[in-house]
Amino acid sequence: MSQKRCSSRIPGFYQLPASDRRELLLKHGGATAADLAALRPENGLTLETADKMVENCVGVLGLPVGVGLNFVINGQDRLIPMAVEEPSVIAAVSYIARLTRDGGGFKTDVDPPLMIGQVQLVDLQDVDAAQRAVLQHKARIMETANACAPRMEARGGGCKDVEVRILKDTPDAHGKGDGGGDMVCVHLIIDCCDAMGANAVNEMAEGVAGLLEELTGGRVVLRILSNLADRRCARAECVIPFKSLEIEDYTGAEVAAGIGDAWRCARRDPYRAATHNKGILNGVDAVALATGNDWRAIEAGAHAFAAREGRYQSLTRFEVRGETLWGMIELPMAVGVIGGTTSLHPAVMACRNILKLENAADLAGVMACVGLSQNLGALRALATEGIQRGHMSLHSRQVALAAGAKDAEVEALATALVAHGEVKLELAKKLLLEMRQTQAELGGSSIRPGRAPQVGA
Ligand code: MEV
Repeated sequence: MSQKRCSSRIPGFYQLPASDRRELLLKHGGATAADLAALRPENGLTLETADKMVENCVGVLGLPVGVGLNFVINGQDRLIPMAVEEPSVIAAVSYIARLTRDGGGFKTDVDPPLMIGQVQLVDLQDVDAAQRAVLQHKARIMETANACAPRMEARGGGCKDVEVRILKDTPDAHGKGDGGGDMVCVHLIIDCCDAMGANAVNEMAEGVAGLLEELTGGRVVLRILSNLADRRCARAECVIPFKSLEIEDYTGAEVAAGIGDAWRCARRDPYRAATHNKGILNGVDAVALATGNDWRAIEAGAHAFAAREGRYQSLTRFEVRGETLWGMIELPMAVGVIGGTTSLHPAVMACRNILKLENAADLAGVMACVGLSQNLGALRALATEGIQRGHMSLHSRQVALAAGAKDAEVEALATALVAHGEVKLELAKKLLLEMRQTQAELGGSSIRPGRAPQVGA
């Protein structure tokens, strides 16, 4: 059932102390006091639990969790938790989400949660005959697969189809093959409902291996899901009026044209596309981490999908349409809201509550919107003032902390560093010393919490 939603537009949120932001989240609903408690570092993953999650465990690593603001997705306001260490990612998505509000926000379109399980067959006498044999026995193969994950089938999911890919040894540009004979990959097409589904898919792939050997006379090698989850794509689009894109020194039309030029570079050049898509994944991965999803799987799927036409290119597309900029993103989104080892992590549950998640498709759509926003934020900055100005002002706080600044000193020092136009640790240490000396001379009252300028929010 869909939950009541408050506005995600919270002016001045970034200027509040973290404690006040947490209060506001409570008022916003979704997250409970217990959720907020779970997000305190001291209440994070315990060593005992961590020790049960991985081998040779010696500790736990924390990451900041922030909230992406201003999102309207399919007509609903959303607050989006993001776990990320890189400054400016959350500010950039929030800034762009604010601009999209003038054009009605984001619209999403998400495929059914179909994953692919691969079973590789080698040592085949005749790959075409093997293909025919598999396709003739589809029903039996699906039945065998579904017997491996009966609960998934009971929820309306499970193996829905079987396909066969014949993989020949094609010579490379130098005329060299890979030394193996023709082989076959059988694809199980599996509806994973609200789970990411890796375990169920792998179990089904292993479960049908014997039957496939029997049917084809071949030998099974690999039995594993494919991370190129291209049956499970998420798409998001938005429209930003030129007026909303205007900034100091640039008209909205100029900003839109600059974003178009920047996007075309990523469309044509894999060197640029790698960086362009990395920016998209800055946002997507941050939501994946916060919601307990496997971000490496998403990364693998995104990059493979970006190369689907034989050339690695952009996951987004932009066009000037009349007096607006239109943007869209499409990428595989293998995410779930049930199952997985991190589902029991209290901070993950807290983040899912902040997001007021409805199901896996809802999460996939949200993540596509965040990826599109992140990309737009980066291109807007790159096509105008450059990335360093905004980035440095945010980076300055980390440098201030590294220099040893405490409490109100952090913002004051960050502001001073930006004013110097140089955000370096040595300078930060020197300025901090000077600030403390001045403060001592004035009797301890000179440091006021100045604010490092922020991009948006
Ligand atoms: C940095 O983490 C991400 C960017 O390089 C993305 C881009 O260039 O589009 C700013």
